[in-house]
Amino acid sequence: MHILAIETSCDETSAAVVENETKVLGIVISSSVETFKDTGGVIPEEAARKQLECVLHVINLALEKAKLTKDDIDSMAVTRGPGLLVSLLVGTTVARTLASLWKKPLIGVHHTLGHLSSTWLDTNEELKFPILTLSASGGHTDLWLRTSHTHGKLLGRTRDDAAGEAFDKGALMLDLGYPGGPAIAKAAEKGNPTYYDFPLPLCNDDSLDFSFSGLKTSLKYLLKKLELETCNLELRPKCQVPSAKFQISDIAASYQNAICKHLVHRIDKAIKLHPEIKEVHLVGGVSANIHLRTLTEEIISPLPLRVPKNIPYCTDNAAMIGAAAAFLIKEKGDEAYEPFETVASLSLNEVVKC
Ligand code: KG4
Ligand code: ZN
Repeated sequence: MHILAIETSCDETSAAVVENETKVLGIVISSSVETFKDTGGVIPEEAARKQLECVLHVINLALEKAKLTKDDIDSMAVTRGPGLLVSLLVGTTVARTLASLWKKPLIGVHHTLGHLSSTWLDTNEELKFPILTLSASGGHTDLWLRTSHTHGKLLGRTRDDAAGEAFDKGALMLDLGYPGGPAIAKAAEKGNPTYYDFPLPLCNDDSLDFSFSGLKTSLKYLLKKLELETCNLELRPKCQVPSAKFQISDIAASYQNAICKHLVHRIDKAIKLHPEIKEVHLVGGVSANIHLRTLTEEIISPLPLRVPKNIPYCTDNAAMIGAAAAFLIKEKGDEAYEPFETVASLSLNEVVKC
C-alpha cells in the first residue's frame, strides 16, 4: 500500500510517499521560512505564492526519491485544515486535480491527526495504547488521551497562545529571529535555566489546560526592568536587552525552562489522573526541544517517552499526513475517503472520537 501525501498548511510545501502505514520511502520539505526571518511571522499570500511555484516539483521529487511512479500509488492524502487558507488551497487543489487525473482515491486529513501519527514514522516497534500525547506547535497546544489512532479524548488545550507561539513571540522580543523555538533553544545552550524566575501558569487550576500569555508578559516586564536598571548602558540594536551585565543566554534559558515546566507540569498531572497510560508522546514543532524532552523523560519515568524519529518529523511534513491517512483507512474503512472541504479552522472534535 503506497500513499502519496501532500502538506501545505503553513509556510512548508511537503510531499511524501509512505508505504504500509509508516515507512517513509521518499519525503521532500521545501520551506519559505528564510523569507520570514525578519517579519517575525509568515505572510500568508507570500507563502502561498511560493508554494504554488514549487508544489508540483516537490511532488515529482518525492516520487523520484521513493523510486516510484504515479502508477505505483494506491491512494492520495492531503491536509484539509486547519492552517492558512490560501496555503491549504494550494495543496488541496493540486491533490484534487492529480487524484482526478490519475484516478486515485483521496483522503482529507486533519493537520493535528498528522502530528499525532508522527511518532509511528519509520519505526517497527509496537506502540501501546492508551497513549498520552502532547501536541505542541506554533498553532496549537493540546493534551490527548488516545485509546487508538482515531479514538480518545482531548484532556486539555491552550486558553490563549500556543507553546510555539510563546517561543516565537519571546524570540521576537529578544531579537533572535523567526522561528523562535530553535533560536531560543540555541541561545539557551550556554545559559542558566534558573537564573530568572517566571511564574508557573495555572498552577492552582483544576483543569489540564495551558496558558502562555502570562509568561510572555513576564518576559516583557523582565526586559523592561533590566533596561531601567541599566539605563546608562548601551542597548543592543532592535533589542530591549542591554549588551553588558545581562546575558541573553540566561534570559533565553530561563524563559525556555518556564515554557517547558508548564508543559511538563500538565503531563505529570495527567499521568496521575490516568494511571492506565502506557506511554507518553511529544509531537509538533515544540517536541524538537531537547530541554522539553529531558524534563518530560524525568517526570514520566518509568513510562517510555516517544518522540518523532527525526526533527523534520516533529515540524510540518507530508509523511505524517500519509501515516494518518493509512490509520484512517485501517480504522474507518471506506468512510476515510469521504468528500471533504478545505477549511482554515477545523474543530478538534474531528481529530479523535470518544
Ligand atoms: O508543527 P510546526 O512545524 O507548525 C505548526 O503546526 O505550527 O511547529 C512550528 C513551531 C514554531 O512555533 C517553532 O518556533 C516551534 O514549533 N519549534 C520549536 C523548536 N523547533 C520548532 N520550539 C521549541 N524548540 C524547538 N527546537
Ligand atoms: Zn503543524
